Amino acid sequence: MSDQLPHGQHGGAHVPLLEVDHVVVQFGGVTAVNEASFVAEAGQVTGLIGPNGAGKTTCFNVISGLQKPTRGKVRFRGRSVTGAPVHRRSKRGMGRTFQRLEAFGSLTVRDNVRVAHDIHRGIVGLLRPGAKDIDALLERVGIAEYADERADSIPTGTARLLELARCLAGDPQLLLLDEPSSGLDESETDDFGDLLRDLAAEGRGILMVEHDMDLVMGVCDTIHVLDFGSVIASGAPGDIRRDPAVQRAYLGYSDEVPEHELVGASTGAHVGTHVSAVEETRTDLVPVGAATDATTVIPVVPAAPPVPSHGQEPPR
Ligand SMILES: Nc1ncnc2c1ncn2[C@@H]1O[C@H](COP(=O)(O)OP(=O)(O)O)[C@@H](O)[C@H]1O
Ligand SMILES: [Mg+2]
Repeated sequence: MSDQLPHGQHGGAHVPLLEVDHVVVQFGGVTAVNEASFVAEAGQVTGLIGPNGAGKTTCFNVISGLQKPTRGKVRFRGRSVTGAPVHRRSKRGMGRTFQRLEAFGSLTVRDNVRVAHDIHRGIVGLLRPGAKDIDALLERVGIAEYADERADSIPTGTARLLELARCLAGDPQLLLLDEPSSGLDESETDDFGDLLRDLAAEGRGILMVEHDMDLVMGVCDTIHVLDFGSVIASGAPGDIRRDPAVQRAYLGYSDEVPEHELVGASTGAHVGTHVSAVEETRTDLVPVGAATDATTVIPVVPAAPPVPSHGQEPPR
């Protein structure tokens, strides 16, 4: 019966593709994720943003199964996967890319995608994909010209797109993308944004942690903002950009934009004034301390100020 219902519907009730439900993660005395609840829908690009140390990576690890939550649940396609191992989530349709590049350096780009496909499908008893299918995938992510190159000889941006191709080889319903645009130049990032929209239009759900605010604001349908492990805002890009709590969590231009403009921007003229004012300073939406975390951040501005004490860093 439920098979005949449209995707995401069970007996009339809407079921999000992914639900993170009151998840708590504690590392000793550090609360990395604090009662976080948010969803990612099929057919949408969802952003997960927040200052460094906010708990984004920990959330990703909980969703993909690398980190067991202290409390709370993760549901995928309406069923709890909270205790399920990584490979079972992957089999059910979750695909993940890592900030750290994981391709086999000695294989060609094409063979890396072929191997990823074999791993996802199971090698025994299943047809190998035709070379055409693999090449179509390489074409789709924009790296076809590198098909015969060894993976350890390609530029970082291309390697990141190869990660995406390897993830797509598993035909995931949900893509978890960790800093997918780092290493991409401006035009590659534009193409990448178009590809994300295409993938969502096919009905896939995409959840991405990303620091490039132009990309996030440009492609996301919904954005969730984490700060100190808690979700402080969820909404469409325009709402997130105007949210004073979000602005306070980032490099503080909320002090420079009068509060009444931020909150009361309801008339056309006002919205126009406000949005352009914020767009001018939008590159300020760089997470506090962004420049200090070389493994996860490509800062949009050259120099970030010193990291304020977040009060939740683990003892060094
Ligand atoms: N394995 C760990 N052990 C102890 N503390 C951790 C561990 N992983 C993350 N943390 C801490 O949890 C908080 C959230 O980290 P993280 O999820 O990496 O944030 P983000 O990805 O938003 O930068 C930070 O204070 C971080 O130092
Ligand atoms: Mg992180």
